[in-house]
Amino acid sequence: MPESPEPAVAAAARVYDYLLGGTHNYAVDREVAAQMLRAFPMAAVGARYNREFLRRLVRYLTGAGVRQFLDLGSGIPTAGNVHQIAQAEAPGARVVYVDYEPEAVQLGRELLKGNDFATTLQADLRDPDSVYAAHEVRELLDFSQPVAVLLISVLHFVTDDTDAVDLVRRYLAPLPPGSYLALSHLTQAGGRIGALQEESSRVYNKTVSESLAIRDRAQIGAFFTGLDLVEPGLVPLPDWRPVDPGYVPDEEDAPRQVGLCAVGRIPLDKVSDI
Ligand SMILES: C[S@@+](CC[C@H](N)C(=O)[O-])C[C@H]1O[C@@H](n2cnc3c(N)ncnc32)[C@H](O)[C@@H]1O
Repeated sequence: MPESPEPAVAAAARVYDYLLGGTHNYAVDREVAAQMLRAFPMAAVGARYNREFLRRLVRYLTGAGVRQFLDLGSGIPTAGNVHQIAQAEAPGARVVYVDYEPEAVQLGRELLKGNDFATTLQADLRDPDSVYAAHEVRELLDFSQPVAVLLISVLHFVTDDTDAVDLVRRYLAPLPPGSYLALSHLTQAGGRIGALQEESSRVYNKTVSESLAIRDRAQIGAFFTGLDLVEPGLVPLPDWRPVDPGYVPDEEDAPRQVGLCAVGRIPLDKVSDI
């Protein structure tokens, strides 16, 4: 870890890094993660499902011809980052990472030294005008060509529903037809899992600098209004285009119930109501 003083408050980026087995976290983050895992043991598997979805997603998008990615709330770099996957499939693919957590940005910059086609911007994603005005974005992304906007496991930190839907629209508005929105989001699980989830959210919201808004299927679906949903639509994370052709969804798998994901494409006959 950097030599800066230990932070007093846990941060989402570092708690998530710990859940994924990373080393870029402090005692305060590990303590929160431990409390969360006591209340909600499936959080670690859920984080892994999310990261696996991200990898399949980037492979899918590069296969569909996308060469530009805006990864909002990109997190602390870990194995299988967007540029590594995209540029392995399509050398020269362009990636802009955006996060407001200093550690995520600093580590991202170190990882990207010498890579002319990927960069990291420190910014609050709730301000799309500033993100789009930043020179990192303007220099690397060509807005006359399709862009994939990734909001992977991050919109649940934008707690006001109206703001969250409006935010997504503002990111998509300047993009050409054939651009994509991809997101994953915590969702409300039912029964006993729901009770455990509520308890872990209480722990989280008391101890981490960000708060969580856990949305239901309809609320998450609303982000895709006006877009063409890519098959298989809005589904639990492991069910989205699994690599294993023999994959069968396991209804007993609790972590599978706590996250939904989908990918939507701006229609080729885009009109201005997106
Ligand atoms: C759970 S992590 C997800 C990381 C990565 N997208 C992934 O799915 O592997 C959420 C990230 O969003 C970032 N984040 C949360 N709110 C943000 C905001 N308003 N602006 C920028 N980044 C934000 C956090 O710092 C954290 O790195």
